[in-house]
Amino acid sequence: MSKTYRLAVIGGDGTGPEVIQEALKVLGAAESAFGFATQRTDYDLGADAYERTGEALPDGVLDELRKVDAILLGAVGARRPDDPVPPGVLERGLLLKIRFELDQYVNLRPIKLFEGVETPIKGKGPDDIDMVVVREATEGLYAGTGGFLRKGTPDEVAIQTSVNTRKGVERVMRYAFETARSRPRKQLLLCAKTNVLTYAHDLWMRVFDEVGKEYADVERSYRHVDALCLLMIQHPEWFDTIVTDNQLGDIVTDLGAAIQGGLGVAASGNLNPEGVSMFEPIGGTAPDFTGQGVINPMAAIGAVQMMLAHLGEAEAAAAVEQAMSATFPRLRGMGAGEMGYSTSEVGDMVAEAVSARA
Ligand code: IPM
Ligand code: MN
Repeated sequence: MSKTYRLAVIGGDGTGPEVIQEALKVLGAAESAFGFATQRTDYDLGADAYERTGEALPDGVLDELRKVDAILLGAVGARRPDDPVPPGVLERGLLLKIRFELDQYVNLRPIKLFEGVETPIKGKGPDDIDMVVVREATEGLYAGTGGFLRKGTPDEVAIQTSVNTRKGVERVMRYAFETARSRPRKQLLLCAKTNVLTYAHDLWMRVFDEVGKEYADVERSYRHVDALCLLMIQHPEWFDTIVTDNQLGDIVTDLGAAIQGGLGVAASGNLNPEGVSMFEPIGGTAPDFTGQGVINPMAAIGAVQMMLAHLGEAEAAAAVEQAMSATFPRLRGMGAGEMGYSTSEVGDMVAEAVSARA
């Protein structure tokens, strides 16, 4: 019996819809080749919809998102460099709201250098860069606690606190240990700042050690975030699975994206292992390039690959990954306008490679 998955698609702003179109093209090729189907619903959300309606994410839409099998998201936020929608409105009102409301507590970000993709790190290649970051995604500094006192006066105070719950840290830690265990090297590194954040990251360290006792086969290590950033550049081959909090994870995964070939390549999953998960390229709306057909869709295609793996379509996921591997060496570069092909030509190349493999 072939399966049909309910898929919510949010193209979003800027170049989001362009890359999602290519991702869906590749998904379509995988469906025909591997005998499953998706029932897709498009949601018009993002800056335009917000300006029209005054709502970033209507409750009715959120309720529908709770019922799908997966969500595919392009990017939301600025549509142009001088966008009038203030920063944070769509990030908090749409993207983070989905992550929080659907309790997508794992932000999974593979950092893998494919053959044919250039890394800016001299002398390093695909054998040296293959790690995955498990970023907590519902707590920490992102939680939204805090506020202003005496705003706008010389005596202003702004407070934003980091929320770290025992349950929240423990569930993401377990996911990270499981991830590490599933990989050949079975290594998990905690990235934090225990020398300064002596409450929040003390909790992280204790949970790391406690949960780690249940995973005797996983080798544990620790780095402060600043040192990790240095070492990810100097010795990327040292790292396998990394677990970290929300904000540090945001930062180290952009660094990770850089060493795997840039934002045109980096994909991620917002996972609720017990609920609805959302897949997205790490890159933003790239407002300078909207409508030009020059953005690399590989990150969005990588998001589809992660989605297929998550849905249990392992063969299709493997085929998409192989098609990506076959396509990377054909591209001149990974950045906007550097590929030697248009966005949709790259989508065609991957889709054809998926069809050819089946
Ligand atoms: C990301 C993005 C988001 C984040 C922003 C857009 C809220 O940078 O997915 O990494 O900080 O999580
Ligand atoms: Mn980010």
